[in-house]
Amino acid sequence: MALRALTGIKPTGEPHIGNWLGAIKPALALASTYDTFYFIADYHALNIIYDAEALRKNSLSIAATYLAFGLNPSQSVFYRQSDIPEVFELAWILACFTPKGLMNRAHSYKDAVAKNMGQGKDPDHNINMGLYSYPVLMAADILLLGAHVVPVGADQKQHVEIARDIAERINHNYGQALFTLPEPRIDNQVKTIVGLDGRKMSKSYDNTIPVFLDEKPLSKRINQIVTNSQTPDEPKDPDQSFIFALHKLLLSPQEESALRAKYQAGGMGWGQAKKDLFEALNAQLSGPRAEYQRWMADPGALEKVLGEGRDKARRQASEFLIRLRNAIGIQ
Ligand code: ADP
Ligand code: TRP
Repeated sequence: MALRALTGIKPTGEPHIGNWLGAIKPALALASTYDTFYFIADYHALNIIYDAEALRKNSLSIAATYLAFGLNPSQSVFYRQSDIPEVFELAWILACFTPKGLMNRAHSYKDAVAKNMGQGKDPDHNINMGLYSYPVLMAADILLLGAHVVPVGADQKQHVEIARDIAERINHNYGQALFTLPEPRIDNQVKTIVGLDGRKMSKSYDNTIPVFLDEKPLSKRINQIVTNSQTPDEPKDPDQSFIFALHKLLLSPQEESALRAKYQAGGMGWGQAKKDLFEALNAQLSGPRAEYQRWMADPGALEKVLGEGRDKARRQASEFLIRLRNAIGIQ
């Protein structure tokens, strides 16, 4: 039997090129090697999004995004976290074995406390229990379906280690391997993708290129990439250009060398470089964009896919939970 890979996607907003190349593409590539489980972590997003319509819309939109980029629901299990009540029951069980000190050391909580202190506020200002116990819910996602590997960005590595730690405690307490011990899988190939201003592309910096912009707004957004004031004639250093940094991600090694030479030769203005980037990006995104629009126009089809995923995931989840309840003496 193939190893199981599982990953959750927080539906917090419009996906951008950084999310596509940094998370979506590498996660989907795993489907050829592993038994894959992908889910929309909508209850994790409730931490941030308190607007019902926005949360509902984001969840469907992120589902459509993954399908548009090639998630195959007959090959992978694709579901919504909130459709699996077993996750929340398991989260409580795990919480009863989670030392509070372990949660105190979680980066996201520590960062929030540090920020408050830096601003002279109460350390717990604006911190709710959802943020504090976020890693327990994530551990439940992972452990419920017996994931062996959890592909995540480097920022989530600690959460997977916490899941493993909690699993080990419970296995040890009952003297049996109730839980599979998960490993984080960080893709070292994936580099940080830069945004319009050369910083990491991120919603928080408002420097993103959303993946499904129509051609016109896409080209407009690309025109906002910051450049220096070199004239078209001057030779340009590709390694100093944010346009090149994005463009090369879409090219084969040979194509990249050719583009590099074009920058270095001079005679190409920034306007042309942006046009070339637009062409390359649009060529790769126009197919997924059309697919995305097709899915978004047919919420019934999306619900059908997620419903099938729910049924597959729940079958495994409920069997697992019966065994676990039995092992811990609940009923
Ligand atoms: P944002 O920073 O825009 O809020 P998220 O934190 O929601 O993005 O990121 C979701 C996923 O996309 C994470 O797994 C993260 O590793 C990946 N990701 C986000 N931005 C980038 C980037 N600029 N380069 C590479 N990967 C990224
Ligand atoms: N916490 C992850 C993020 O912020 C999303 C997530 C929730 C997740 N549950 C998960 C990722 C389980 C991997 C496995 O991106």
